[in-house]
Amino acid sequence: MGLLGHKLHSQVAMHADYGGVVPELASRDHIRRVLPLTRELLAGAGKALTDLNAIAYTQGPGLAGALLVGASIAQGLAYSLQIPAIGIHHLEGHLLSPLLADPAPSFPFVALLVSGGHTQLMQVTGVGAYTLLGETVDDAAGEAFDKTAQLLGLGYPGGPNIAALAEQGRPWHYKLPRPMLNSGNFNFSFSGLKTAVLTAIRGQTLTQQDKADLAAEFQAAAVDVLVAKSLAALDKTELTQLVVAGGVGANRLLRERLTRQAAQRGCRVFYPPLELCTDNGAMIALAGALRLAPRLRDDSGAIRLASHIADDARGNATSHAFTVRPRWDLEELRPA
Ligand SMILES: Nc1ncnc2c1ncn2[C@@H]1O[C@H](COP(=O)(O)OP(=O)(O)OP(=O)(O)O)[C@@H](O)[C@H]1O
Ligand SMILES: [Mg+2]
Repeated sequence: MGLLGHKLHSQVAMHADYGGVVPELASRDHIRRVLPLTRELLAGAGKALTDLNAIAYTQGPGLAGALLVGASIAQGLAYSLQIPAIGIHHLEGHLLSPLLADPAPSFPFVALLVSGGHTQLMQVTGVGAYTLLGETVDDAAGEAFDKTAQLLGLGYPGGPNIAALAEQGRPWHYKLPRPMLNSGNFNFSFSGLKTAVLTAIRGQTLTQQDKADLAAEFQAAAVDVLVAKSLAALDKTELTQLVVAGGVGANRLLRERLTRQAAQRGCRVFYPPLELCTDNGAMIALAGALRLAPRLRDDSGAIRLASHIADDARGNATSHAFTVRPRWDLEELRPA
């Protein structure tokens, strides 16, 4: 199983003026972009719509308007092509995205999911077999990066901007807390860290160096907690592979520290390719392919031709009714 191609249209610039995602703008822009992007992707990969065996789309969780655009386009295309469409959990996509790395991890592994909306440690025993070990009790790690960036007057999205500024910073110039570091479980809290930054800068006029020092200390504090809890999760589960997914997984300090400290205890860390850390279609396609694989193969295990799947689907009158799930717990998922 491999990636033939992927395309991304980022809405970051469109939302930047507002400091965050504006749901109505997002879904309207999705409508404009999705079909031209699909055409470009297929042309780039030298494929046609009729070469598709199946279509995967994000069914949830997320903004209902944006989800409905993807779901209706996917189901509409699948209906016209007479192939199956499958709704995928957005976080399952993130969680499985390191399987696109080379070398790839094998099941079972511990997954650290650190994105704009989630901070979770999961035990993953297979596709659809996820046990939550711990998660944030308030803000997500990426959210804390974004909010701290805003406090420091850096643009959206904050993570990459904080990380870049931190390069010139001296973390020890400020002292920020490491929330829940010794809580004895796998939960996180990041809103106190953001508040500590607010308290540190209240009434101060910050120089560029002050901002860099704060950015460096903030990053160090967040990374300390993420690394400590991830390693503790490896100990507890007695697993030796850690998978890191989600946008904060692009953070260089986090990657360096995790890789080094995991290696010291004989464990290995896997990351998706950098461009697949933040939201992307490839991870959804991968999750869809893994879930649909049994249906797409013939008795000898070979992938069936798209035309045969279409004949089959016509015979079975596949339903293309759909729903989206703006709220959806990852632990509700079951193996394919
Ligand atoms: N180098 C980096 N260092 C720290 N944070 C980063 C870095 N690059 C991106 N991020 C953060 O990653 C987040 C975006 O990641 P992602 O696209 O996976 O999240 P999301 O899709 O918005 O959230 P979710 O998947 O939980 O709904 C943002 O909060 C961004 O600031
Ligand atoms: Mg995401």
